[in-house]
Amino acid sequence: MAARSQQTLDLTGYVVPTHVAIIMDGNGRWARQRGLPRQAGHRQGAENLRRIINACVEFGVKILTIYAFSTENWGRPEKEVRGLMRIFARVLDQEINDLSAQGVCLHHLGDLTGIDPKFQDKVRRAIELTKDNNTLILNVAFNYGGRAEILHAIKQILDDGVSPDDLTEDLFSSYLFTAGLPDPDLVIRTSGELRISNFLIWQAAYAEYYPAAAFWPDFGREELYKAIVAYNQRERRFGLVPEET
Ligand code: IPE
Ligand code: IPE
Ligand code: MG
Repeated sequence: MAARSQQTLDLTGYVVPTHVAIIMDGNGRWARQRGLPRQAGHRQGAENLRRIINACVEFGVKILTIYAFSTENWGRPEKEVRGLMRIFARVLDQEINDLSAQGVCLHHLGDLTGIDPKFQDKVRRAIELTKDNNTLILNVAFNYGGRAEILHAIKQILDDGVSPDDLTEDLFSSYLFTAGLPDPDLVIRTSGELRISNFLIWQAAYAEYYPAAAFWPDFGREELYKAIVAYNQRERRFGLVPEET
């Protein structure tokens, strides 16, 4: 199929955030607006993820973290949870070779214990297959919660017998699922919600937040471009004061 011609979106002269994190929200409302079942929204959401991964590669984003399924999302109706799991498994099966060819290195943030062993296997194989790729690190937050992540880190720190005197912010960060990666620069939440919903609560302490009105299935390449442009208009102070002129 011929590729649809894409509008040129030039980022020359802009700082491209190294690490972009996205709370992919609004699939259900996208579907409801069209009189479709929520699952149709989740399917479109998965398609959109493909577009956004391509756009990140195009724009030069080095790390993309996506919130795919929270520890709280298990409380949704069983049918919806099963539908989501089917989509995750299908995306892994169908996309992983293309993603790998594109240079995507897959990481998982969250806990796989208690998840269907076949699914665990797929995730582990995908991580192994893509481990040497370095165009884009794709962190998938699945069965992820920021509080659960912090508790998990604390338990490991206690297990390791780390002395309180040795515990620094850097050491603590090295016990999180994002160990070794820089903190997100930009956190985008689609669908107009202004909440963190337990996402990267440690790592995003100084991230710039960008709420986008579009529902996730409609948040495309151009929307990501606008978010990066808006990021360039922010002044990141990290608690300091601006230079006196
Ligand atoms: C995001 O869309 C997908 C997941 C949380 C898995 P939602 O399913 O939350 O969609 P809304 O917020 O109900 O519209
Ligand atoms: C956050 O979205 C979780 C994911 C995007 C995976 P939710 O739709 O679950 O969050 P709330 O319920 O609006 O806070
Ligand atoms: Mg939601």
